[in-house]
Amino acid sequence: MPVHEITMEELVSLCKTRGIIYAGSEIYGGLANTWDYGPIGVELLRNVKKAFWDFFVYGREDIVGLDSSILLNPKVWEASGHIASFTDPLMDCKKCKARYRADKLIEEAGDARPEGWAGEKTDKSAIVAFVKEKKITCPSCKACDWTEPKQFNLMFRTHQGVTEESSAEIFMRPETAQGIFVNFVNAQRTSRKKLPFGIAQIGKAFRNEITPGNFIFRTREFEQMEIEYFFDPEKSQWEELFQNWKKAVWDFVTKELGIGETHLRMRDHEKDELSHYSKGTTDIEYEFPFGWGELCAAAAYRTDYDLTQHQKTSGESLEYRDEESGRKFIPHVIEPSLGANRLVLAILLDAYTNETLKDGTTRNVMRFSPKIAPIKVAVFPLMKKDGLDAKAREVVRSLRSIGRVDYDEAGSIGKRYRRHDEVGTPACITIDYDSLKDKTVTVRDRDTMEQERVNIADLPAHLRGKYHFD
Ligand code: GAP
Repeated sequence: MPVHEITMEELVSLCKTRGIIYAGSEIYGGLANTWDYGPIGVELLRNVKKAFWDFFVYGREDIVGLDSSILLNPKVWEASGHIASFTDPLMDCKKCKARYRADKLIEEAGDARPEGWAGEKTDKSAIVAFVKEKKITCPSCKACDWTEPKQFNLMFRTHQGVTEESSAEIFMRPETAQGIFVNFVNAQRTSRKKLPFGIAQIGKAFRNEITPGNFIFRTREFEQMEIEYFFDPEKSQWEELFQNWKKAVWDFVTKELGIGETHLRMRDHEKDELSHYSKGTTDIEYEFPFGWGELCAAAAYRTDYDLTQHQKTSGESLEYRDEESGRKFIPHVIEPSLGANRLVLAILLDAYTNETLKDGTTRNVMRFSPKIAPIKVAVFPLMKKDGLDAKAREVVRSLRSIGRVDYDEAGSIGKRYRRHDEVGTPACITIDYDSLKDKTVTVRDRDTMEQERVNIADLPAHLRGKYHFD
């Protein structure tokens, strides 16, 4: 029994035909593992980011926002440890020259796994030793002749300056987090926030992944939504904050984004899979058609590692002064880190349903939660004439503040319902001849397919009350 009603291949093709996600640079034959969000997909992605900002920044008193640059001084990456440690073990087949990430070789070879196996998070030397010991062969040419593993740094390099020769090599950020750390003092002073408080940022991150794939699960360019939550370790217990953050992120994923709990679980990292900066990390994992995978990091305890490193490397004080005692210290940090695109993938898989109706016909419905549904309401004139179209446009205008509201006059009403079921529009409104007389319309619900008559004047309040779009 497959976990989802749709395979990854079917989802990729459905996303293309419904204007959700297209292969990048398609008219030039594409660029591997790049994806562009179409008219429906862009709304979904924006709604996920909006939900994050609404929930964590506007919904609380202790978080402020930030939008830092993608390009940072290279010393940032030296200090953060990314230049030295942000690597994956790469092995080349000497015969056919194919390149593989060592952990992927193990996964492709069969069921045998090294001790403490945790996928890509497994200790790197254990992975390499296992490949050698088990004489794992090259998936392309079946030879067993590997080069010594190289540590491949995942950061994208580029040049800043007018000519290649005179310009400095810099990196595209592999996480948004460091932009927050280097602005800690600026943001704290100007917002006058006292510990504990957090700084949130949404933005692009770039990683030269050795094995991108599984559609938008792992790409080289993606968007992160991160919070660095700063606290005084003498006044707050990290374990307690950690639990609070796990719960907050779980609530966000399940209640705000509406991802069902059936395919979700929390997973604590084993000691040997923790990142170089972390003392404890818990991921939320999702059961994708290709297996359980990290959906987001609900909480990582980064201690005072990053701020201490930046203070040392920059020579600037990044200390916080406790007003009551005058004590100065470097705050500790808990970090929730979410990938917007990976969340979109889980949302798409979770929302897809194929139903058989009482009359034996089938319909495809994307059961998005109204908060993240790309189109909130669609308005149909029964006919494109007799003033029905003008009235429908008037209704569209009156509902604009809800979010994206579409006017649709093409095809039969039944076809229009199906089209909007397929992109998950929660409510469809039909304007008929009675609407012109009694100023009421038919509102049809996506999930139950039930219809009700509602006064045009009551529509905004009625729809907001029923669907909780915000
Ligand atoms: N600042 C911590 C950090 O970046 P991470 O576990 O490497 O932690 C956090 O990334 C989240 O970013 C992941 O849980 C995932 O949602 C997303 N992410 C990471 N790499 C990605 C990639 N190559 N493609 C898409 N999303 C990615």
